[in-house]
Amino acid sequence: MKRILVAAAAIAALGSNAAFASEQLAKENNCLACHAVDQKLVGPGFKEIAAKYKGDKSAEGKLVTKIQKGGSGAWGAIPMPANPQVDDNEAKSLVKWILSLK
Ligand code: HEC
Repeated sequence: MKRILVAAAAIAALGSNAAFASEQLAKENNCLACHAVDQKLVGPGFKEIAAKYKGDKSAEGKLVTKIQKGGSGAWGAIPMPANPQVDDNEAKSLVKWILSLK
């Protein structure tokens, strides 16, 4: 029983660290200049994005490409710029974090 509790605590700690790490990653890559979690700035709010792609199994791949290559038309005419400095792993953790927001 004790072992299970310790494992559960470790998983919970890992989970919250991952969320923190991704928010930090968004900050470091300047995403937060155009995006906020709760509201639209230049780009859509991250929670809005999560709601739009809820249940869409192809969303993760699509959004990873969008973050790295940029593009427009999903939300409006303002383009999202390319972010070539964001590598595959970083883009994936950013997308996972964004899609996990509620
Ligand atoms: C210069 C402003 C700007 C910056 C910086 C920016 N974005 Fe965006 N982002 C936008 C705009 C505008 C859109 C809407 C594009 C559209 O309508 O297709 C968008 C859309 C998105 C979407 C949804 C894409 C879709 O197809 O639905 C995601 C996810 C996203 N941004 C993540 C990020 C992340 C992560 C970063 C940092 C690496 C970032 N953005 C940096 C402006 C920006």
